[in-house]
Amino acid sequence: MSSLPSPESELPDDVEAGADDGEGATITPYRDGPLIVRGDFRLLDQDGAEIDPGRRTIALCRCGKSGIKPFCDGTHKRAGFSAPSAPSRPRPAAQLRQEPRVRD
Ligand code: FES
Repeated sequence: MSSLPSPESELPDDVEAGADDGEGATITPYRDGPLIVRGDFRLLDQDGAEIDPGRRTIALCRCGKSGIKPFCDGTHKRAGFSAPSAPSRPRPAAQLRQEPRVRD
């Protein structure tokens, strides 16, 4: 198990640590920022080893510039990372689910 530093400064200013509903986990893509994970979750590396998140609310980097990946270290602001909070159009897989099935 690895333990990475996760000081409060890793969370965006408008994120409340521990603000979850107590049921499962939620993942919120923050506009121009990280993925905020709240609640009851496990963080594993690709080999299945547990990564100690150090808290119940964490910020995961999605800009690719953090020096402490997979955690956000705030570098996205200096890097000018830009991304919406939600997709501007449905994923192809979601579109496929919505299309009626053709039966022979
Ligand atoms: S999203 Fe914050 S450093 Fe990448």
